[in-house]
Amino acid sequence: MAMVCLSDFEAYAKKYLPKIAWDFFAAGADDCSTRDENILAYKRIRFRPRMLRDVSVMDIRTKLLGTEISFPVGIAPTGFHQLAWPDGEKSTARAAKAMNTCYIASTYSTCTLEEISAAAPGSLRWFQLYIHRNRAVSQQLVQRAEALGFQGLVLTADLPYTGKRRDDVRNGFRLPPHMKLKNLEGAFEVCKMSPLDPSVTWNDIYWLRSLTHLPIIIKGILTKEDAELAVRHGVQGIIVSNHGGRQLDGGPATIDALVEVVEAVQGRVEVYLDGGIRKGSDVLKALALGAKCVFIGRPALWGLAYKGEDGLQEVLRILQDEFRLSMALAG
Ligand code: FNR
Repeated sequence: MAMVCLSDFEAYAKKYLPKIAWDFFAAGADDCSTRDENILAYKRIRFRPRMLRDVSVMDIRTKLLGTEISFPVGIAPTGFHQLAWPDGEKSTARAAKAMNTCYIASTYSTCTLEEISAAAPGSLRWFQLYIHRNRAVSQQLVQRAEALGFQGLVLTADLPYTGKRRDDVRNGFRLPPHMKLKNLEGAFEVCKMSPLDPSVTWNDIYWLRSLTHLPIIIKGILTKEDAELAVRHGVQGIIVSNHGGRQLDGGPATIDALVEVVEAVQGRVEVYLDGGIRKGSDVLKALALGAKCVFIGRPALWGLAYKGEDGLQEVLRILQDEFRLSMALAG
């Protein structure tokens, strides 16, 4: 099967992954209107292309907080990569390194932070944090990530509770017994309720700041008001995100929310976006509307499901080629 675009990887993953894993990856909250809107919104945005502008040489590199990456697409944090491929997050880290881009490793990884670091030494990695009710667990994770050379701390702000994903409820989704949330081993079992802390507020940014020298990037911002608060609380970056439509159903598409966030921030911190990126032209639209870089969630999992590290590299390479072509054709 020739893999021509990201939808080909989606079709492959849907066909070959166990249903319970496919459903977990695909899930949105409630009736998935925000998940689907993330994609539909791109189709409503049109370019004003310019001609005869010498596009024979193109430079698609960019910098994330000062570190160069080969093109403005990184890998968003998603949990449970071993559901897609046996080597899990180690393969993800290797693919990101090979393509010289940024990988945000999730708190809910099925490999340890140590294994992820060792798989791709010297590569650009950020660590994504969910704040645990037991703050000592989170503190230890943050400090472990920093010691291992992760270069950014991504605080996910949109998950005080997990959204209602109907297929996961129907399937009784849980990790197979041979897979573990390896970074939280021990920490989970003691909690009868969700281990994540729903009482987190903006003040906790100061707490995080006291734990680490890493730049803090806040993920899950959708309004100008929260963008302003994020800047005032001293974060270095904002990821405009609705968690791929898996949390509050009925919120805006991220590409639609991007504009007010960019306007509010006025260049004071870097603004990134995730959600619904499926083509190189989507990347160009997000950049044209003010994002410094975008991140892919589900497409990375489809790439892993196809051929592990090589499959994910193929996904990134296709996006890179499409992005370059869109830039050229838009002048
Ligand atoms: C996620 N996302 C997510 N975000 C996060 O901060 N920590 C996490 O552990 C996870 N886990 C996760 C699992 C799965 C299966 C999905 C699909 C998503 C959200 C993710 O970082 C990102 O916001 C979205 O996936 C972006 O949308 P697309 O690219 O999937 O459309």
